[in-house]
This record gives sequence, C-alpha cells and structure tokens, in this order.
Amino acid sequence: MAKVFAHLRTIAGALALAFVVVTAQPSAAQQPSSVNPTADAVKEQQLLQKFKMIQGLGTIPDTKSYVLEHPAGREWREFRTVTLKWIGGISILGMLALLAIFYLWRGSIKIEGGRSGRTILRFNGFERFVHWLTATSFVILGLTGLNISFGRRLLLPLMDPQAFSTASEWAKYTHNYLSFAFIIGVVLMFLMWLGQNFPTAADVEWLKAGGGMGKGHTNAPAHKFNAGQKILFWLIVLASTAMIISGFMLLFPFYYGLGVGDMELAEIFHGVVAMLFIALILAHIYLGTLGEEGAFEAMGTGDVDVNWAKDHYNLWVEEESGRGASARTQPAE
Ligand code: HEM
Repeated sequence: MAKVFAHLRTIAGALALAFVVVTAQPSAAQQPSSVNPTADAVKEQQLLQKFKMIQGLGTIPDTKSYVLEHPAGREWREFRTVTLKWIGGISILGMLALLAIFYLWRGSIKIEGGRSGRTILRFNGFERFVHWLTATSFVILGLTGLNISFGRRLLLPLMDPQAFSTASEWAKYTHNYLSFAFIIGVVLMFLMWLGQNFPTAADVEWLKAGGGMGKGHTNAPAHKFNAGQKILFWLIVLASTAMIISGFMLLFPFYYGLGVGDMELAEIFHGVVAMLFIALILAHIYLGTLGEEGAFEAMGTGDVDVNWAKDHYNLWVEEESGRGASARTQPAE
C-alpha cells in the first residue's frame, strides 16, 4: 500500500510540474502579437504600434508617472517643435511685414489742420495705470513666452549655454508670476471700459468709412472708442480668457482629473493663442505710436489735442463738451 502511495505521489508531482511548465509558457502567447517585448531585437516603434503606450511599474500613487512613452506625445512634440514655430513665425513676422507695408503706403496719420494747442483729458490716471499694468505685464509675458518657444533656436547659438540656461530659468519664473499682474490688469480693464465697448450705429458708419484709414479722409464717426477699438477690446477679452484658463492648467498640472492628453492640449492652445495675441497687439502698438500722430499722448499724459480728438472721436468730443468738460490751452513751447 505504501508503495502505491509513493507511486501516486510521484505521478502527482510530475503532473504538477507539467502544469507549471505549461502555464508558465503562454506569457508570450498572451501578448497581442508575435512581438516579444523582452527580446533584444524588438524595435521601440514596433512596441508602440502594438501596445499604444509603453508603461512601466512604479511604487508612488501617481500612476500617470508610470507611462514612459505614448505616440500622442510624439505628435504633441512635433507640433511644439515644428508647427507652433511656423504659426508663430508667420503670424508675428507677417503682421510686422503688413504694418511696415501699411506705414510705407499711408505714413503716420497726421492731425488734420494741425495741432490746436488746446487739450482735453482722454484717460484719467487710474485708466492709464490699468492700461500700463496690463501692457507691461503683457510685453514681458510675451517675450519670456517667446523665449520658451524660440529661445533654444534663436538665442542659444548666440549665448553661452550656462548663461542661456540661467536666463531662461529666471524668464520662466517671471512668466509664471507675472501672469497674476496681467490678470488683475485685464479684469480691471474689462470692468473699466465694458460700458463704452458695446456696438452703436456710429460703428457701422465707421466701418463703412474704413475707419478713416485711407489716404485723403481721416474722419469716421466714433464715440469714446471706435469700432476697430471695440473689436480689439473683445478680442483681448476672448484671448485673455483663453490664455488665463490654459495658463492655469499648465501652472497647476493634472488638477481636476486632467490627464496627459489634456495637458498637451492646454499647451498647444496656450501657444497658438499667444502667437495670434502677440500679432494682434503689435497692430495696436503700431496705431498707438508710429501710426497716428498725437495718439500716444492719450496713454502718456492722458491729455490729447482737441483737433486730434475731433479727427478720430468727433462724437466723444461733442459728448464731453455737452457735459461741460472744458479744453485746456497748452502752454507754448
Ligand atoms: C506696450 C505697448 C502699448 C502701447 C504703446 C499702447 C498704446 C495705447 C494707446 C496710445 C492707447 C490710446 C488709444 C486711444 O486714445 O483711444 C491705448 C489704448 C488701449 N490699449 Fe494699449 N498699448 C500697448 C499695449 C497694450 C496691451 C498689451 C493691451 C492689452 C492686452 C492694450 C489694450 C488697450 C486697450 C483695450 C485700449 C483702449 C482701446 C484701444 O485704444 O484700442 N494695450 N493703448
């Protein structure tokens, strides 16, 4: 009897061993194809095609960090390093070229009849403070942002790598923190000028007259802001909202259950809107400086020449006179 049991134990042992061998083999068969991920000859690209993602193991709770590679990340990198640069280059350089052509054709728009020597207040101190808070933070955000997109290609070859790296690190901190100043400026600007930026009948006339931009006629009717400025105002509101939302997604990554794909989308969106926004503001800067004689004073001292105001904002001048606002005589130089 003992012998029979000994035989049975031997047979059971052999069967168990056979079971282990048979069930251990199929690990390769469980893979979706003939690709063996552990084989030396397997190419990374083949693996990506089969598995869509290369994921490792980890011990920290953030399982996203286990993903080593995924093909969408490659598309994102391609967009960032190639497509975004083209979008930025075309929109920014294209706008500069258009402005240069416009300037050569039209020159600076002069005050019809010359300066009157009398001024009226166009923007008070608070309005100018809010404008310059927004403008300076925008310009610095724009330059530090462009360094993120183009710095490696354009600046690094001209600089000591260590200096470029230190400057870029500081630029990035500046970009992150200055976003708050920009948000404060844009929100105040929105509240301050919202009432004067709704469409009126005069805007239709202004648009029909081409804003008085053509040669020979400078008069197109406008209240405090003309139709072009109103369009700019709403584009600024729209673009700033897009920049703020996508910027905060990048500043506080993976909050609210956002995944890697959402972060990539936010980054692409932030970059594309930024390039278009910069191009738009370049046009605004041109009109506020080179493009129009007398315009800068509105945001400089706040006082503008009465003849300039009549040329560009005739209805506003009438409203101001009706409210009893008196023009001041400028002291002779
Ligand atoms: C840094 C260069 C800038 C310059 C030289 C500049 C210049 C000016 C000037 C002269 C005006 C007065 C125009 C008038 O009398 O109606 C103005 C108005 C205004 N600016 Fe700027 N600006 C700059 C940047 C910005 C930025 C970055 C923003 C917003 C992101 C902005 C938003 C506005 C808005 C909404 C107005 C009122 C409506 C208008 O004139 O379009 N500006 N700016």
